[in-house]
Amino acid sequence: MACSHSTFRRNLIILFLCFFTTATTTLAQVPANATFKFVNQGEFGDRIIEYDASYRVIRNDVYTFYTFPFRLCFYNTTPDAFIFAIRAGIPGDESLMRWVWDANRNHPVRENATLSFGRNGNLVLADVDGRVVWQTNTANKGVTGIKMLPNGNLVLHDRKGSFIWQSFDYPSDTLLVGQSVRINGRNKLISRTSDIDGSDGKYSIVLEKNGFPMYINNSGELLLYGGWPGQEFGTTVTFDAVPDNDNATSYELVLSINQDSAPPPNRRLLQVRPIGNGGQRNLNQLNYNATYSFLRLDSDGNLRAYTYYEKVSYLRWAESFAFFSSYFIRECALPSKCGSYGLCDRRMCVACPSPNGLLGWSESCAPPKLAPCKSGGAAKVDYYKLVGVEHFMSPYEDLAKGPMKVEECKAKCDKDCKCLGFFYREDISKCLLAPLLGTLIKDAASDTNSVGYINEVHVHFKLTVYDVKSSQASLSNSQLF
Ligand SMILES: *[C@@H]1O[C@H](CO)[C@@H](O)[C@H](O)[C@H]1NC(C)=O
Ligand SMILES: *[C@@H]1O[C@H](CO)[C@@H](O)[C@H](O)[C@H]1NC(C)=O
Ligand SMILES: *[C@@H]1O[C@H](CO)[C@@H](O)[C@H](O)[C@H]1NC(C)=O
Ligand SMILES: *[C@@H]1O[C@H](CO)[C@@H](O)[C@H](O)[C@H]1NC(C)=O
Ligand SMILES: *[C@@H]1O[C@H](CO)[C@@H](O)[C@H](O)[C@H]1NC(C)=O
Repeated sequence: MACSHSTFRRNLIILFLCFFTTATTTLAQVPANATFKFVNQGEFGDRIIEYDASYRVIRNDVYTFYTFPFRLCFYNTTPDAFIFAIRAGIPGDESLMRWVWDANRNHPVRENATLSFGRNGNLVLADVDGRVVWQTNTANKGVTGIKMLPNGNLVLHDRKGSFIWQSFDYPSDTLLVGQSVRINGRNKLISRTSDIDGSDGKYSIVLEKNGFPMYINNSGELLLYGGWPGQEFGTTVTFDAVPDNDNATSYELVLSINQDSAPPPNRRLLQVRPIGNGGQRNLNQLNYNATYSFLRLDSDGNLRAYTYYEKVSYLRWAESFAFFSSYFIRECALPSKCGSYGLCDRRMCVACPSPNGLLGWSESCAPPKLAPCKSGGAAKVDYYKLVGVEHFMSPYEDLAKGPMKVEECKAKCDKDCKCLGFFYREDISKCLLAPLLGTLIKDAASDTNSVGYINEVHVHFKLTVYDVKSSQASLSNSQLF
């Protein structure tokens, strides 16, 4: 009797404890008056916006979601395909506003899609048919509120103010000041496809164990074209704008590098090994307050910073750094500089190489179309040749194979269907097969460190590939390889 009585009491206690813990966890909820459901409908805003977008500001009676100069919006660049995003710009300021973060660029939503923040603390973007397109996955994790911080970080926080989720952890192509990429997290920026198409493009900058290289994705194959390969970048890289001196009369844009263990975080200027030797160059200082800056991998593959400077009347978010520029790495090394194909000399696209020699360059300049290629099969290959030209990959010398004879290099290209041409450096007998041509660099002489070998580099463009059997209509071999 006593026994069953105590069991009853124990069960009662367990029941009570159970109820009590449930009650305390349900307490950590979003207050009913702080929840919202925003429907993507209504008038568009009338400001001038980057990418020529239309936009709707996200706000209601409780939330403005505006913390100078950042604001939540929906925007679209093509009809009925909306992105939930953060905009940087000042109302009443006539200059171009910029997009600095987006949630769903690969999965746009339609008119009447909803952004909702319920009592469970999950922020959910659902399309008009109810399909969840994007969410913070923070249901029942103690979230009690949402805030746009002055640095452009959208955060979901708990009762103590700790961030349960933050937009800063999910950069797409942009880092705001104070925002990072991490080895153990979102470790890269990926460019947009174009102004009109906001989905993932082909350029990326990736934080790796041994560097911070920039890649172009050539149908799945990543080709190195810039960044800081082979340098120690630690586990976290943060974009930052730091005052230069006590008076803060000038600022430096930097990439801060944090090691998880000691030594203490050290700062590294945005600087790069000039192509050809181990020297370094620094980014120009800005002699104004650079607190409102961001670093972005643009759709053309260039890495640029933009800084808000109110003392100009136009384009207040102006370019304040560019990786490929007159003061950093020569512009001709940007693969997209001359579109799909072209010869670049001192920042200008000067010629379109062809089997008939150098023609004038235009947007339509393209390498000769190759006949279908059978890997390793009986095929015949011809080439035409140009002297004193570099490929965008050739500064990263470890990519080049060799030493080998030029005939060996050619034979490799012959057999490789992906090879569009080969670059051969005569003085050191190095060979580089090019799976993508893009912009060809003529101007290495303007880079003092590369003088001397440029005329040793010969490029041989593949002209055509065809089966030996069907090769009666063979091309003349004059002027070819
Ligand atoms: C919600 O209500 C509480 C208590 O009535 C109040 O203190 C708080 O400011 C309100 N929050 C919002 C976002 O209106
Ligand atoms: C959006 O919803 C409104 C009603 O709230 C409706 O009048 C309108 O037709 C809807 N638009 C689309 C494109 O579905
Ligand atoms: C490269 O692009 C292809 C599409 O061409 C895509 O499937 C792949 O995921 C991309 N790879 C990387 C690493 O971005
Ligand atoms: C900073 O300002 C003080 C007083 O205005 C001036 O004496 C000093 O030279 C300035 N320092 C720098 C580094 O500009
Ligand atoms: C730079 O601008 C930020 C943001 O407006 C401000 O908080 C900071 O005080 C400014 N720094 C100086 C030195 O004026």
